[in-house]
Amino acid sequence: MTTPVKVAVTGAAGQICYSLLFRIASGQLLGPDTKVQLRLLEITPALKALEGVVMELDDCAFPLLDSVEISDDANTVFDGVNVAMLVGARPRGKGMERSDLLEANGQIFTGQGKALNDHAADDVRITVTGNPANTNALIAMHNAPDIPTERFSALTRLDHNRALTQAAQKASVSTPEVTKMTIWGNHSATQYPDLFHAEIGGRNAAEVIGDQAWIENDFIPTVAQRGAAIIEARGSSSAASAANATIEHTRLWLQGTPEGDWTSMAVRSDGSYGVPEGLISSFPVTTKDGDWEIVQGLEIDEFSRGRIDASVAELTEERDTVTEKGLIQG
Ligand code: NAI
Repeated sequence: MTTPVKVAVTGAAGQICYSLLFRIASGQLLGPDTKVQLRLLEITPALKALEGVVMELDDCAFPLLDSVEISDDANTVFDGVNVAMLVGARPRGKGMERSDLLEANGQIFTGQGKALNDHAADDVRITVTGNPANTNALIAMHNAPDIPTERFSALTRLDHNRALTQAAQKASVSTPEVTKMTIWGNHSATQYPDLFHAEIGGRNAAEVIGDQAWIENDFIPTVAQRGAAIIEARGSSSAASAANATIEHTRLWLQGTPEGDWTSMAVRSDGSYGVPEGLISSFPVTTKDGDWEIVQGLEIDEFSRGRIDASVAELTEERDTVTEKGLIQG
């Protein structure tokens, strides 16, 4: 057994965490040989509900769960953490404009970025799931100048998994047959799920499917609007699948992507594929031992270019809004 890993999770009394925490505690994030110390952050009014979740964690008697601490103070929760999953966020209220949402969340992620900067372990890896995830990650990153920028990421693995299944079902194959999927851009309805660089059974996925109309009119909108479709069907937003993707994103980051495949991850752009440097945008990435690299050299045709540019334009607007509001320095 190695030293326990400290994992911070925010929004711990929320719906995603009701699935996420139990999967982390059962060993699905760090594997069967690593104990975990959970450090859970909530806002003060939700602490009582969180105590109930902790009682349930206790009642699972998970062998790998070393300890659980809860608090409404980010400085306490982030003390010494190796992994931080920032799930908690302000939902969009009635009549709230997108810029109000960015600002409300900006306040949260400014504070959490500073707290991570001051208290997290030197090897911390941070994933933002709470929406608007890319820009929340950007704000946290800007408020944590002592943490290397490559330690910040936002979740697009849920979109990636949605795309894998849509493609697999269309081609009547199982999901592991579909590789090299990419989500480009923002985790929002403008995202671009890219089948043109994906493979099915080792062959170009778009060619195997051979149906451009389906790709444009069915595949892309289905993946991009899946969140809304789930709310419509279930009456509340994706929770178990978001928890699953948050685990998979972080596990792949720590343990590495399989040979011959990649994952989608929103990370700080270095200018690759014409995405302005500094934006947190989703790319195809390979990972190894806790580091990631953007896959280079993919040819981007006119169709893909237009889709990527549209999503990146939205990210640029979001960045401009939070810069104007003084949440990051331009
Ligand atoms: P939820 O509303 O059930 O839970 C959110 C929790 O965060 C609440 O318990 C709330 O008290 C807490 N919270 C709010 N402000 C906080 C703060 N400053 N510090 C700590 N905790 C705080 O929401 P749910 O369903 O768990 O979703 C969480 C977030 O994940 C939402 O922003 C949602 O839009 C986002 N999401 C992202 C996905 C992705 O693929 N990136 C997919 C699905 C959801």
